[in-house]
Amino acid sequence: MEIVVVADEGEFAAVAADQVCTLLRHKPAAVLGLPTGNTPVGLYAELVKRNRAGEVDFRRCTTFNLDEYVGLPADHAGSYRTFMWKNLFSGINLPATAAHLPAGDSGDPVRAAREYEALLAKLGPIDLMVLGIGTNGHIGFNEPYTAADSRAHVSQLTPSTIRSNSVYFGREELVPRQAITLGLGNILESRRIMLLAKGESKAKAIAATVMGEIAPTVPASYLQRHPAVMLILDGAAAALLHKPGEKPGRGGEAAG
Ligand code: F6R
Repeated sequence: MEIVVVADEGEFAAVAADQVCTLLRHKPAAVLGLPTGNTPVGLYAELVKRNRAGEVDFRRCTTFNLDEYVGLPADHAGSYRTFMWKNLFSGINLPATAAHLPAGDSGDPVRAAREYEALLAKLGPIDLMVLGIGTNGHIGFNEPYTAADSRAHVSQLTPSTIRSNSVYFGREELVPRQAITLGLGNILESRRIMLLAKGESKAKAIAATVMGEIAPTVPASYLQRHPAVMLILDGAAAALLHKPGEKPGRGGEAAG
């Protein structure tokens, strides 16, 4: 794993955006995997800025979001479709037909997951999978004990995920209990993976991802098996990483 620890928000967004822009320069028809949540907001704002400045072109690109809640109308304020249009898609020159999310509102989520899997099989593989991470080590909505070879599926959200995501819904009771997510198998089949994490609340999950055993209790630990993973972390998320012989908590670059 390559680990980059950045100094501030600006660098966090710039380093992550550099990865996307370099890929699209070399491969304009690249396939991107995208997360929602608080972590990628700065990256998306940076990509909008660079696209407006003519520094990156999304015209030939295809995107697959990691996940979508089950049962929310697509135009619901809390849906991931709404999030993506607000934060990224409306600000870049990606054709609307090239932006894919699972159909969480279809009424038949199992079938919608199967169709999403088939679409990715047709248009993929993903060249660069961008990930956030849950405080419980989830990636996408692959909660602890999800199989390492799982495909797109309907996931039951854990109490900790429901609690974390309640900020977007006002109350925990309003957070959907299920989501359609790409599976760990889909994520691990991506050519490259870039995991983003900010803040103290992610430090334990990051330490377990990088230095822990590969275990179903921490889905992100399966990333250790992938040959091309880059982590972009702020100092707080990196605080529990250390090189052998070093005391934890010094920040700076750590080997994975
Ligand atoms: C969302 C997703 C989740 C989030 C994770 C971190 O599409 O895939 O795995 O990346 O829950 O969320 P934030 O960034 O809000 O801390």
